[in-house]
Amino acid sequence: SRGSLVLGIETSCDETGIGIVRGNELLANVIASSMDEHARYGGVVPEIAARAHLEALTPAIREALATAGVALDELDAIAVTSGPGLAGALMVGVGAAKALAVSLGKPLYAVNHLVGHVGADVLRHDPLVGEGALELPTIALLVSGGHTSLLLVRDLVSDVELLGETIDDAAGEAFDKVARLLGLPYPGGPEIDRAAATGDPAAYRFPRGLTAPKDLVRHRFDFSFSGLKTAVARTVEASRDAGIEPPVADVAASFREAVVDVLVTKALDACRELGVPRLLLGGGVIANRRLREVAAERCAAAGVTLRIPPLSLCTDNGAMIAALAAQLIAAGHAPSGLGFGADSTLP
Ligand code: KG4
Ligand code: ZN
Repeated sequence: SRGSLVLGIETSCDETGIGIVRGNELLANVIASSMDEHARYGGVVPEIAARAHLEALTPAIREALATAGVALDELDAIAVTSGPGLAGALMVGVGAAKALAVSLGKPLYAVNHLVGHVGADVLRHDPLVGEGALELPTIALLVSGGHTSLLLVRDLVSDVELLGETIDDAAGEAFDKVARLLGLPYPGGPEIDRAAATGDPAAYRFPRGLTAPKDLVRHRFDFSFSGLKTAVARTVEASRDAGIEPPVADVAASFREAVVDVLVTKALDACRELGVPRLLLGGGVIANRRLREVAAERCAAAGVTLRIPPLSLCTDNGAMIAALAAQLIAAGHAPSGLGFGADSTLP
């Protein structure tokens, strides 16, 4: 069989994502972002995101159907992110998904956003790193503006274990906040990446949060980026107090090095301790050039197979939600019914 034809809706943060898949085949991946509307606030404003989803959803659904060459009544199922994410933003997607499912008489699948990031891997058409089917178990590192999570994935649909998550800022959020401190525009990740290219990563030794065993918090592999952000703020203030402009390139490069070091060190510690020689990356921060470089170098040295889906499937998107639901269907899971809500803290 060619797999189920599924339309996936993703609205957990600021990206309105509509994807259509047939089994593991990607047919459409339409993404409308409200990023520009949040720029002047320096971060995602939940109510603006929710309103933007409401406006973007119908045009994005039409565009995805046209791209895929599919009519609504041909769909086998509808899938939607039910959490975690921004409550109001999630509600728009969940409401739309229920409306579609009821009006079309199609089954509806509620899926977990983070597991969706892992599910995206099956759709790789133009893989950047990694060949062949996803091998399990794998460690997955998901880093974006909203989350920083390390997962042990034994089975995509039935066995995903949280090994660690951020106890304060997400990695992308840290990039955005530090960019702001340095006077760089939002979103800060790409700006820091660019500024860092001409800086010295060893100019400052910024702290690596929660990398000492004594720092144990809730999970063995939890992350913390607030101390790092504070250290950068002090450095920038000290410069300004001394009447000199902070050396943006050096601060950016040293900051980026600290984040990348923590992310890759923890992910590879998890691979080693759990005896899982596979690492999958996902989330918008994966666009970071230094992160890709360091991950590739250290994975090769450690004998760990690295997989990085194409960037359009790493950032939040609807195709990953559709792909995960297609796998749920293939594994014989029952639909979710209409009783579920939006769960912003879904584990
Ligand atoms: O997954 P994503 O597109 O959306 C959500 O978080 O919802 O991730 C966006 C985040 C932002 O915080 C942005 O600053 C960060 O990813 N980001 C980067 C880079 N490109 C985007 N962070 C570091 N380096 C980059 N090159
Ligand atoms: Zn995400």
